[in-house]
Amino acid sequence: MSESAALLALDARRSVPSRQLGEPGPDPATLLRMLESAVRVPDHGKRVPFRFLKISGEARHALGTFLAERALLRDPDISAAQLDKDRHRFSHAPLVITVVASPRPDPKVPEQEQLMTAGCVCFALLQAAQALGFGAQWLTAWMAFDPAVRAHLGLGTDERIAGFIHIGTPKTGVPERERPDPATLLQDWTGMP
Ligand SMILES: Cc1cc2nc3c(=O)[nH]c(=O)nc-3n(C[C@H](O)[C@H](O)[C@H](O)COP(=O)(O)O)c2cc1C
Repeated sequence: MSESAALLALDARRSVPSRQLGEPGPDPATLLRMLESAVRVPDHGKRVPFRFLKISGEARHALGTFLAERALLRDPDISAAQLDKDRHRFSHAPLVITVVASPRPDPKVPEQEQLMTAGCVCFALLQAAQALGFGAQWLTAWMAFDPAVRAHLGLGTDERIAGFIHIGTPKTGVPERERPDPATLLQDWTGMP
């Protein structure tokens, strides 16, 4: 079987840890190009249950300050090292795109499907970033699930954070990690439970 360039690009996808991402990030036109690919996701009923929040420049550090304050409130015994980590989480990559899932009650499209569509957007964005020569990583951690962080970012009460996609230029190569063997995950269903 000949392997198309598209298939090779899919196989070459890997994350670059956010700490390894530096300047430059995508310029505004390149970011929009990236998002153009990212929004081409399967979407039951064409509901578009997602939106994007761009966090770059000083806003990254401001968010880090808020996160450190919040982390201390959540756990007054937090270590200095952990606090420092939370403060700087958003300061490594030049750009973080928050993919916000905006599921709405819908008789035809269950919430789970709308959330999966937003997850697909995260993955498509990783692929588009790499195709345009950047590195990227999909991160969540406690701040993706914390109500105060969600409110601070302006999310509605029914909205969720599908992922923070950190995007920048890789400072180093990233070693490949072991991947699952699909043959071991594949079974025939023979018609009986
Ligand atoms: C929904 C989601 C959330 C994730 N959150 C984190 C995270 O908070 N911290 C982390 O180290 N990796 C997280 N990851 C894993 C990384 O995005 C990435 O998959 C991992 O570094 C392995 O790299 P790979 O994409 O090349 O397999 C998350 C992945 C997913 C799908």
